[in-house]
Amino acid sequence: MAASAERLRHAWGVHAVHVRDVKPGVVELRLVGFDVLRKVRMPRRLDGGPLRIPVALREDATAFVRDYRAVPHELVLGATLSGKSMYLRNLLTGLAAQPVALVGIDCKRGVELAPFASRLSALATDPDQAAELLPALVKETEDRYDLIKARQGIAPGTPEELITSDVWGLPEDERPAPIVLFVDEVAELFLVATRKEEERRDEMVTQLIRLAQLGRAAGIYLEVCGQRFGAELGKGATMLRAQLTGRVCHRVNDEASAKMALGDIAPEAVFAACAIAAELPGLAVVGDTSGGWSRIRTPYLSLADAAATCRATAHLAPDVPALDPFRPYVPPMPVEAPSGSVVTGRPVTE
Ligand SMILES: Nc1ncnc2c1ncn2[C@@H]1O[C@H](COP(=O)(O)OP(=O)(O)OP(=O)(O)O)[C@@H](O)[C@H]1O
Ligand SMILES: [Mg+2]
Repeated sequence: MAASAERLRHAWGVHAVHVRDVKPGVVELRLVGFDVLRKVRMPRRLDGGPLRIPVALREDATAFVRDYRAVPHELVLGATLSGKSMYLRNLLTGLAAQPVALVGIDCKRGVELAPFASRLSALATDPDQAAELLPALVKETEDRYDLIKARQGIAPGTPEELITSDVWGLPEDERPAPIVLFVDEVAELFLVATRKEEERRDEMVTQLIRLAQLGRAAGIYLEVCGQRFGAELGKGATMLRAQLTGRVCHRVNDEASAKMALGDIAPEAVFAACAIAAELPGLAVVGDTSGGWSRIRTPYLSLADAAATCRATAHLAPDVPALDPFRPYVPPMPVEAPSGSVVTGRPVTE
């Protein structure tokens, strides 16, 4: 069926025919009449849920769901202006409506993530701040492991279903809130100018690797974003990359960059990523863990709308005491008087 999809497409005169096997003996054919990625409209019925965010549209007109429980960490790669930050923005606003602590490291001085400060539990906008925030996150991970361990060792008589190896097995009132760490432009953490900074860089990289290694069971997830992510960034780069299971590759300028994202999981997808045109920012190739891949595109979401969502959901930010020192400053919003209610003074003439 997959081999004849191209002929069916011409025979039926449709834009594309997608074949998916549902179970042995049953295949699903999806006919798409036009290029749905040109103007993205998300399907009306979305199967979201806790830590499952429908973030983009696939070319077969279904939603691409970013599922943190299934794929804890992800790498988002792409050349400049390819739509990486738009992807993060969609994801962040999706998560904002859930009881999830959002943490940002944006070493571009915070231009991408600072507008969401009202919903963020912690924000670092330069490597100095990141160097303080990362150890706090590692400490939080270790504390959560202690919590899990305490539950495992409660008493020999503990019922089996109460023994757990990750935070999800803890009873709801004891379970710490999940944390999602967004890193926009990861290379800024790696690149150093002087010998003195090198030590700090190595520490940060080690901490990121540890977070990726230990995070899942502690409910801490990474979303790492960068223009290139190869061995040339230095010690630890490929090791960190290997920990990031999910791969999203936007438009890239050379094959080597596409290989950094997709080469080790879906080699054919590399060509698809190289073929992305510049006039469709936001278009990306996403590699599945199964070795398959598909083309996706995020819906357009303006920075102002995303920031408004964050302000509206600010009260949903869960309490994570370890992150309190890193909470970003949020300038108070001027309160707008509803139109028509303006009290106009009446001139008093006597
Ligand atoms: N899905 C989309 N639909 C329409 N426009 C988009 C989409 N995604 C991104 N854009 C536009 O493309 C431009 C670049 O997007 P974005 O800032 O996300 O790129 P970037 O990859 O983060 O670039 P940089 O590496 O320079 O930060 C923006 O002007 C944005 O409005
Ligand atoms: Mg960006």
